[in-house]
Amino acid sequence: MRKTVLGVLVSGRGSNLQAIIDAISADRLDAKIGLVISDNPEAHALQRIAGWDIPAVVIERKKYSSRQEFEERLVAEFDIHHVDLILLAGFMRILSSHFISQFPGKIMNIHPALLPAFPGLNAHKQALDYGAKVSGCTVHFVDEGMDSGPIILQEAVPILDSDTVETLSERILHVEHLLYPRAVNLFCQQRLAVDGRRIKILPEPSREGAKGL
Ligand code: GAR
Repeated sequence: MRKTVLGVLVSGRGSNLQAIIDAISADRLDAKIGLVISDNPEAHALQRIAGWDIPAVVIERKKYSSRQEFEERLVAEFDIHHVDLILLAGFMRILSSHFISQFPGKIMNIHPALLPAFPGLNAHKQALDYGAKVSGCTVHFVDEGMDSGPIILQEAVPILDSDTVETLSERILHVEHLLYPRAVNLFCQQRLAVDGRRIKILPEPSREGAKGL
């Protein structure tokens, strides 16, 4: 069966991209990265894929006179590389409704908080400033709002009295690296049943039928 082709959008460090690469290498994720797009030529994410057979392009917003033209180039690249699922992995740009509406249920994001709490920028600082005792991370489908799309997976991380933005980010990031590949794998296995805002996780297909083969 054809593997699900992933298109990953990055802007910076790329540790979630690395987690996806590692999960594929370890056979925990049955997918193929068809393309990485960075809007930042200096992104460390680009160095991570050097040496891997993964196509990458840099598409800088400033090279285009409008967001529409920039996004048209993104769409063209995803088309050329037959991308089935787009992953936002530390991509620091807001995509327009027009872009998002072209990929319904086909764009995922990871956010370092338990949505709907603490959306947008500086999620760790928001959680600490609020005095929350628990935060975590969320993988969700992207809709036209800010971190508001249907939730696929979430995992909680306790907030300790001693936490700073750095220590909390580090503990949440560790969980992100487990959660994102798991969510992508559920998509690849066609185990995400979307029912309005609720996403139900279907059981793994029974292996009973394979017995005796
Ligand atoms: C991750 O912590 C991700 O959850 C966050 O940016 C970081 C990217 O790190 N995303 C957001 O805050 C989106 N609202 P990475 O480049 O090492 O994957």
